[in-house]
Amino acid sequence: MPQIEFALRWLHVIAGITWIGHLYFFNFVNSVMQGKLDDAAKKAVNPQLMPRALWWFRWGAMITFLSGLLLFAAIFLYTPGAGFGPNLLLQGMEGGLSDRARWIMWGMTFGVVMWFNVWFIIWPAQKGLLSGKITGDAAAPVRAKAGKFSRINTYLSGPMLVGMLGANHANMHFTYPRLAILIALGLAGVHVALYHAPKVGQTV
Ligand code: HEM
Repeated sequence: MPQIEFALRWLHVIAGITWIGHLYFFNFVNSVMQGKLDDAAKKAVNPQLMPRALWWFRWGAMITFLSGLLLFAAIFLYTPGAGFGPNLLLQGMEGGLSDRARWIMWGMTFGVVMWFNVWFIIWPAQKGLLSGKITGDAAAPVRAKAGKFSRINTYLSGPMLVGMLGANHANMHFTYPRLAILIALGLAGVHVALYHAPKVGQTV
């Protein structure tokens, strides 16, 4: 049903914006800002800021993930009248996977790794720190691990979106060299945003 697919697509993209928007806030804005706050300011700001931001961040990730899987099933594993099973959009002309399916499967691979990092590495670490269960000497390595995986996810977001958009909007034959070039461009774009934009982003 095109209406159901449209509703899922809308939910998927708006949840994806919520998730990746918060990821970018953490990495492009907050990580720089936290370095400018003293301990007293951190104690005043972070208990108000972080639980709210992390709530939208992790549930945005979950809704994006679930709606993405449903979207995949609706597009590639269902044929109106015939029911569930691999359909013609999944299969290419020569019996292999179609270009559209190959692009999206790469995007999904990156997206699922990112979702895993949020729910099983970043959030458990942040939860321990914010709840006060992890304190003192134990806090620094946990904070570093959460920060590292948050940065990894920021990098992965570039290639992930190549796969998400390549499936439908580029009308591009899938080849591995093409994928490699686009992954490199996606990584480079994020790298510039992470390490070069803040210099201008601090000014009005
Ligand atoms: C977490 C795992 C994810 C899965 C399983 C997933 C799955 C999918 C699927 C199946 C499609 C449809 C592709 C097609 O029409 O051929 C899609 C499209 C899309 N996804 Fe994801 N996705 C994930 C993460 C994300 C994230 C994090 C974003 C960030 C914004 C995102 C943004 C998009 C966009 C913009 C489209 C294209 C919509 C369109 O062309 O109309 N996805 N995704």
